[in-house]
Amino acid sequence: MKQLTVLIAEDEKNLALLLERVLSKEGYLIRLASDGEEAFRRISEEKVDIVLTDIKMPGKDGIELLKQVKELDASIEVIVMTAFATVDTAINALKMGARDYIRKPFDIEEVVGAVNKTAMLIRNTVFIEGANDVFGQMLVAKSEKMKALIKMMKKVSNSVANIYILGETGVGKELIAHAIHELSDRREMPFIKVNCSALPETLLESELFGYEKGAFTGAFARKLGRFELANGGTIFLDEIGDISPLIQLKLLRVIQQKELERLGGTQTISLDVRVITATNKNLEDLVKEGTFREDLYYRLNVIPLVVPPLRERPEDIKELIKTFMSISSTLYHTTPKEISKEALEALAGYPWPGNVRELENIIERILLISEGQIIQLEDLPPKILRNEEVLSDNLEKYKETVEEKLIRDAIKAADGNITKAAEKLGISRRSLHRKINKYNVNEN
Ligand SMILES: Nc1ncnc2c1ncn2[C@@H]1O[C@H](COP(=O)(O)OP(=O)(O)OP(=O)(O)O)[C@@H](O)[C@H]1O
Ligand SMILES: [Mg+2]
Repeated sequence: MKQLTVLIAEDEKNLALLLERVLSKEGYLIRLASDGEEAFRRISEEKVDIVLTDIKMPGKDGIELLKQVKELDASIEVIVMTAFATVDTAINALKMGARDYIRKPFDIEEVVGAVNKTAMLIRNTVFIEGANDVFGQMLVAKSEKMKALIKMMKKVSNSVANIYILGETGVGKELIAHAIHELSDRREMPFIKVNCSALPETLLESELFGYEKGAFTGAFARKLGRFELANGGTIFLDEIGDISPLIQLKLLRVIQQKELERLGGTQTISLDVRVITATNKNLEDLVKEGTFREDLYYRLNVIPLVVPPLRERPEDIKELIKTFMSISSTLYHTTPKEISKEALEALAGYPWPGNVRELENIIERILLISEGQIIQLEDLPPKILRNEEVLSDNLEKYKETVEEKLIRDAIKAADGNITKAAEKLGISRRSLHRKINKYNVNEN
């Protein structure tokens, strides 16, 4: 893999040297600059992938450098370091295009982590902080189809246009919604998800839009809705196809007007929320049937992202197994296992109706119950093995049919002369006789 170049812009000599030592150990090519001017000169002269810059420097400061670098080449990633980081300065830096920010004083590990994460991103790998409510997770994308999807996600992540994610059950729609938030300049703000099919209408309404004290019986105190909680960040509305006509109408208003009133309230709250929706239903069909508002559909579906089913990208399976193996083994305090070639092939040939989630469940189970350190064919669940058998059974039958026909044709063409027929088929007389018996071929 190509070595990435990191330019460190830092006026404190000792700190710069420490960063240089640690980051070159991680495999980066390092360039040093002691102020913004020098840093920018070097960046314009040679290819730099990542800029790690202090904000406070003599002359041109880190923010100025960030601005110029982004103007020069938006694909150069910038990480800022500052002793005065408030949430505001951090968010400002992100809005101006910084990839990350680090508060001083820092642990060196923190810097290495931020640089490594940025490097992964350059290589189209996304790490999703806090995914799955457990710990961060990598978005596996080895296949060309997933790589193309990540490119698209990167491209649209900073726009405010609403995103509509489609895909079969378990393909990774939620993880992708989360990844888009992580890629965007809203990543320091909340990512709030709502499962629209889990709640009855009235509950969903108060979850989404909130209420004032006394809005209805049982409203003992003000409650902020999920839209309000997501302000400045992203709201992910899952299973959007299941919402009732009333919620559809309210949602349309909130999205169009970018403001809302809590239930029973009069105060108007303005919203800056990126809306991502997902569904495994075909909303277009629901629109045709008249159960989903067309105007809302067009509002939501500004940028459609289609997540391909796992069977269309078997190249991802190996890496997904590694990921799930490592997550499960951390969770259960065991060591991850390897997988044999045959077992991997069987998994790659299975059609995966439950997609990535099904694979995740299978790996978790195998890790816990299989005996050896290497997962073998016989450790796989019967449905996958059966699939293998069906496949090889069919193949065998097909081969036999073709073989029988070839033999019959050859014998006929040779007018029943077995020696000639065997010659034509390129096999010995003996083996032709065996096959004649096997297929019950009449020699005349
Ligand atoms: N590309 C991927 N890399 C790593 N993990 C993945 C990937 N895709 C999916 N997963 C994991 O698979 C599981 C299912 O993904 P997710 O919940 O995002 O699917 P979904 O499409 O939202 O499913 P559903 O339609 O059932 O809501 C999750 O644990 C998720 O972390
Ligand atoms: Mg989901």
